[in-house]
Amino acid sequence: MDKILVSGGNRLEGTIPISGAKNAALPLMIASLLTEGTLVLQNVPHLADIESLKRILTNHGVDYRVEGKRRGQGGNGGKTIHFSTPEIVDTTAPYDLVSRMRASFWVIGPLLARMGEARVSLPGGCAIGTRPVDLFLESLSAMGAGLEVEGGYVIASAGSGLTGNRYKFPKVSVGATHVAMMAATLAKGETVLQNAAREPEVIDLARCLKAMGAKIEGEDSGTIYIQGVDELHGATHRVLPDRIETGTYAIATAMTGGNVLLEGAQDNLLETALDAIRQTGTRVENENGGIRISRGNEPIMPVDITTEPFPGFPTDLQAQFMALMTKAKGRSCISETIFENRFMHVQELARLGADIHLDGQSAIVEGVDHLTGAPVMATDLRASVSLVIAGLAAEGQTEISRVYHLDRGFENLEEKFSRCGASVSRVSE
Ligand code: EPZ
Repeated sequence: MDKILVSGGNRLEGTIPISGAKNAALPLMIASLLTEGTLVLQNVPHLADIESLKRILTNHGVDYRVEGKRRGQGGNGGKTIHFSTPEIVDTTAPYDLVSRMRASFWVIGPLLARMGEARVSLPGGCAIGTRPVDLFLESLSAMGAGLEVEGGYVIASAGSGLTGNRYKFPKVSVGATHVAMMAATLAKGETVLQNAAREPEVIDLARCLKAMGAKIEGEDSGTIYIQGVDELHGATHRVLPDRIETGTYAIATAMTGGNVLLEGAQDNLLETALDAIRQTGTRVENENGGIRISRGNEPIMPVDITTEPFPGFPTDLQAQFMALMTKAKGRSCISETIFENRFMHVQELARLGADIHLDGQSAIVEGVDHLTGAPVMATDLRASVSLVIAGLAAEGQTEISRVYHLDRGFENLEEKFSRCGASVSRVSE
């Protein structure tokens, strides 16, 4: 299995192109199931999760065609992919496919809305928490779906179609908002979703659905109004830049006292995180349609953060920010409110010499002067990249195994780091 080797001590300097957002591209690809027409998505990142979802969609009858085979075509390495589903050939999403990636459960919304039936495997738990699906089921049931759970599968039916209704999410969920919004586009009458997620990826999906003929309002307000239509048509949509990738490279630059232009990054997608990075003593400035991050030799100041739904500090940047805080001058408190088990990186950061104590849903980080390279591994994507960031500031070599986690969500990671002077490479065993 591949490993990533990081030798610490180099400042990051140069330009890093920001890719299309994985977490926007996934629901957009799933939305292609809603129409017989062709959905053309531009700026789709080349990632393992995107490849997995392509396989899952193919199983339902989706044909896809990738424009331009060579790297670099389409800008920032992003690809243009045409998705067409003239006919849904199978409404079952089997366990062996869904268990690999939780977001594949989201096909339940379009399949039910277009075909009146879906049989989708429960995704199960994962490393960061139990991640139930109750909110998906409740919101679809509010639209008149019949739902049963049998043999590990959710069996959903709506023989005479879904019917619009008012539903208030008891808790903000990105995935359940995506699914309810997609399902409601083809329901009869109006659906009102209250306490809906407002993440940029939800807004991006709404924009794409509108381009496909859906009638949606209020997607950026937490209350989404959807007037059902008889059918949707094809459209062309550009995937928004990845705010988590942006935040990750911003934090890495701060960690190394570097100076990097994040090309194509948009500050309005991660203002809370950029504010926290600023408070560490790092400069964050808009420049030429991107964001410049720079920090000199001054100490990293400790900053407390609490993860929250958008526009709060994103849980997907919590591990990376914790890595930065391990080298801060003083104590910081990092609280996780979205997932109950998202501190798996703490033990691994400790192997590099970090001083972190867990106290329930908070981690108390005492900054240290030195981190030292060591062999480490991580259990999820964001935790893995937090170890790369710590490794950039550690003395000696850090060897990160289970690289497949990184390949799920970071496009050309070694290349992007190496081009800015970091020593990050991949070795096969
Ligand atoms: C999305 O996951 C992202 N995934 C996650 O990114 C991200 O961490 C998360 O949103 C929060 O921002 C994708 O977009 C593909 P949720 P999602 O439903 O939709 C609870 C990454 O690293 N909940 O908003 O699955 C749930 O357990 C990934 O890229 C219920 O209780 O997250 C959690 O505590 C990891 N019942 C909270 O809501 C439900 O039915 C928020 O989860 C659904 C969710």
